[in-house]
Amino acid sequence: MQVPLVDLRASLQPIKEELFREFDATLDGMQLRLGPNVQAFEQEFASYCHTEHGVALSNGTDALYAALHAFGIGAGDEVIAPSHTFFATIEAIIHVGAVPVMVDVEPGTLTIDPDAVQDAVTNATKAIIPVHLYGHPANMDPIMEIARHHGLRVIEDAAQAHGAHYKGRYCGSMGDAASFSFYFTKNLGAFGEGGFMTTPDPDIAAKARLLREHGQVSAFEHALIGHNFRMDELQAIVLRLKLPNLDRGNQQRRQVAEYYRQHLANTELEMLEPREDSYCVHHVFPIRSRSRDALRQHLGASNIGTGIHYKIPCHCQPALKKHAHRIDGDLSVTEAACRELLSIPMYPEITEAQLGHVTAQILSFTQNHSTTVQA
Ligand SMILES: Cc1ncc(COP(=O)(O)O)c(C=O)c1O
Repeated sequence: MQVPLVDLRASLQPIKEELFREFDATLDGMQLRLGPNVQAFEQEFASYCHTEHGVALSNGTDALYAALHAFGIGAGDEVIAPSHTFFATIEAIIHVGAVPVMVDVEPGTLTIDPDAVQDAVTNATKAIIPVHLYGHPANMDPIMEIARHHGLRVIEDAAQAHGAHYKGRYCGSMGDAASFSFYFTKNLGAFGEGGFMTTPDPDIAAKARLLREHGQVSAFEHALIGHNFRMDELQAIVLRLKLPNLDRGNQQRRQVAEYYRQHLANTELEMLEPREDSYCVHHVFPIRSRSRDALRQHLGASNIGTGIHYKIPCHCQPALKKHAHRIDGDLSVTEAACRELLSIPMYPEITEAQLGHVTAQILSFTQNHSTTVQA
């Protein structure tokens, strides 16, 4: 039996017929640049996230960049972010000319540690980027409190958390702005690339729209140096068709997570602990093992796909050697996570038989190896 890490084909099957119909209609209209589907999707996704404004963009990295730039964050400014994230979070800070200050994460959810954020604030700090990693909402209340106390902006990186919520508030609706990725493997994935910025602030939304289109304010006139951050009409068609299925998919992911939790409970393997006050959408399901690489090999030999999110902590990435950055405090939780985490298959359409195969293979491995994680 084959069990991929994610099954991309399965997420497109339910919308296939409508997709072809919509593509056909677009061929007739040929409104390909920020067309009716992009405009409608902006409304629909902003409203899904319970935010006032939404700007459809080219990808999640550009969405982070647009938010930072729109708040005027740049050279000489510091932005606090977790080291345990996809490298794009850190890249966006460097792209606007600011200095990333990388801090550690909380052990239960591997999201940014508010105490570490508090310790890292200096006079140069301008923003905090909490990342709702793997679909686990970050601990937003203390982060917002620190930000309000010091006059900082909060930009949520919600690339992995479409539909997640924290104390009843949707990821993407709690900070001063938020970024989403619609990379095709995400809980809401495009047919390639896509991104989104949400914000309650109309001026920030307007600035992001300007940046998206070369700073163009009217025909031939460019008010600022912008970019091409446009979303394709075809991506918006796919996203609009998939959005109504997002909640069901997230619910199924939660059932898969529950299955793993129950069936792997009596092993030495450790799993993350979703916050009780939050709704985690399990973009990725990592387990922890001291024998991570051997376990990965064992599962691969049984046709089970796995992934590592992430192997090298951002603060150790060679690319940073040439750029100003700061590491604040002890990052031991991040470093242990990078040594021990293994992502196992997680997608809404995974069958009970496939789940049985994955857990049986993990159990057969743990019976023969000590997988205890280091204290
Ligand atoms: C946490 C996080 N931030 C940012 C990004 C960047 O998004 P994109 O790949 O759409 O540029 C990703 C994408 O994987 C991500 O996982």
